[in-house]
Amino acid sequence: MVFTTHKESETENLGRRLALAARSTPLVVCLLGDLGAGKTVFVRGMAKAFGFAGRVTSPTFAIVNEYNNAQGKPVLLHFDMYRLSSSEELYDIGWYDYLEMGAAIAVEWAEKVMDAMPENAVFVAIEGAGMGPRTITLTGLSKEEELLLEKGCTP
Ligand SMILES: Nc1ncnc2c1ncn2[C@@H]1O[C@H](COP(=O)(O)OP(=O)(O)OP(=O)(O)O)[C@@H](O)[C@H]1O
Ligand SMILES: [Mg+2]
Repeated sequence: MVFTTHKESETENLGRRLALAARSTPLVVCLLGDLGAGKTVFVRGMAKAFGFAGRVTSPTFAIVNEYNNAQGKPVLLHFDMYRLSSSEELYDIGWYDYLEMGAAIAVEWAEKVMDAMPENAVFVAIEGAGMGPRTITLTGLSKEEELLLEKGCTP
């Protein structure tokens, strides 16, 4: 599915809609796109959909940010793989333990670790920069999920 967004709020809203429509557990969303493409903006929408009310920023130094809902349950793990050089380093950052937590996972700079992403991952490729429009291509969704996303389903 291909979408065009013309401002930040539209990209955020698409992230929200994807989070509500996706059915795989754990949900792993791999974000592809250059610096400033809008990956973090998209993840912000996902976090809101899952009930996280706080600030969402690229976890470039922490590698992973954990977002909890109002009940304190981890609902989204937000990774930034920018500083990793290969998927071998996933062991060091505890990726495989995080996968087992059952929380949804969003991965910025998934390009760095493509070979290790799960088979059922959803891919979000964002093209465009600056204040220009973004072309956002979603792949890896089932037909049912695509329909739910189109309808703008709510939980
Ligand atoms: N249609 C749009 N969608 C998303 N962001 C947009 C759009 N138009 C302009 N922007 C701007 O582009 C920037 C996107 O920043 P963001 O931090 O999400 O990028 P990123 O892909 O996470 O970069 P990084 O690789 O550095 O983490 C924001 O400043 C946002 O306001
Ligand atoms: Mg970012």
